Amino acid sequence: MKSFIAFLALTLLVAPLCYAVPVNNGQPGCQTEEELVVKYYRHFQNKTVYWECVALGQPAVLQSCPLAHGYLDPEKQCVHFSLWYWTPTVAPPSVPATEAPAAVEV
Ligand SMILES: *[C@@H]1O[C@H](CO)[C@@H](O)[C@H](O)[C@H]1NC(C)=O
Repeated sequence: MKSFIAFLALTLLVAPLCYAVPVNNGQPGCQTEEELVVKYYRHFQNKTVYWECVALGQPAVLQSCPLAHGYLDPEKQCVHFSLWYWTPTVAPPSVPATEAPAAVEV
């Protein structure tokens, strides 16, 4: 019985994590102080753009690098393509809150 309750609790805790999978472009949710301190995050698909956390609780905004520049995460800035190298994508600490389900109209 105890293990059943533990199983039930675990299921209820883990389930929301499964269906809340966002589009995997690396956009941070900026829901932690840490993200505001780090501020800049790598975009997973496009090296010429990057994410910037501007306010707590507001999803990061997309920023573009200058022409012929790519965002280099270890330097937290845009560098010329000749200096750019690939870095692994790292999931940000938080993701944007999923939109609330549309209210059911009666
Ligand atoms: C990357 O983003 C820039 C700026 O929004 C856009 O012009 C370009 O087409 C994008 N490249 C890819 C591969 O999506």
